[in-house]
Amino acid sequence: MNLAEAINSRRSIRAFKSDPVPRHILEELLEVALRAPSWGNTQPWEFAVVTGPTLDRIKQLYVDSADRPPYPDLAGPRVFSDPFLARRRALGIRLFEIMGIGREDRDKRKQWELRGLRLFDAPCAIYIYTDRPFYTQDGVPNAYPVFDCGLIAGNITLLAGSYGLGTMLSMQSISYPDILKKELDIPDSKLIVLGIAVGYPDRENPLNEFQSERDSLDKMARWYGFGGGGSKSE
Ligand SMILES: Cc1cc2nc3c(=O)[nH]c(=O)nc-3n(C[C@H](O)[C@H](O)[C@H](O)COP(=O)(O)O)c2cc1C
Repeated sequence: MNLAEAINSRRSIRAFKSDPVPRHILEELLEVALRAPSWGNTQPWEFAVVTGPTLDRIKQLYVDSADRPPYPDLAGPRVFSDPFLARRRALGIRLFEIMGIGREDRDKRKQWELRGLRLFDAPCAIYIYTDRPFYTQDGVPNAYPVFDCGLIAGNITLLAGSYGLGTMLSMQSISYPDILKKELDIPDSKLIVLGIAVGYPDRENPLNEFQSERDSLDKMARWYGFGGGGSKSE
């Protein structure tokens, strides 16, 4: 599979088989992912790779915490305005259609939220964290360690496909950093950036067939200095 095929075929996996992911595969994958670029080659990422009873316990503690408001180490968006709101809504509508979850069906919506908190039952998770004092300096966030963690997360998700694995980047899985820090013995000097669910996709599940939409390149890119040919910007 070439890179464009890998990018085009990747999608968020929200239903996994229970088969375990062998450690040697994850090691091989992460070794390659480490080639991600980073600001000044600072390589600000660290990983907790978790499976088995430890992950089961984390999932259970997350479900038990579901009524607590999330308080991730990294602030997320509080308000969505358009076009972000419209895109987010479109995603939710499609996923709920596939799942047969009605707008008013509180019970099924809750079950969906719990599935997310359980990392969609993936048998493995990779939590990416970075150094808190490097991220916040004199009270001002330094965006780049988080940005660099995003780059390596991208590598991980793309490489996973070449091992037949599926992934799901998950903010839900870092909603309660106190649980992760306690269970994984991660000190408070670390900032938890992202969780990645990893496992073999359940290909029978229609959730995994769903391909999310993308706005056109025409909307996203402006072109300068290329001459005519219908460019908006010239
Ligand atoms: C930083 C980040 C966090 C995400 N967190 C969640 C999450 O908590 N729950 C979820 O269902 N999807 C989550 N997603 C997946 C996005 O919804 C998904 O990437 C997007 O809808 C595009 O779909 P695709 O990944 O299938 O291309 C997250 C994605 C990113 C990049």
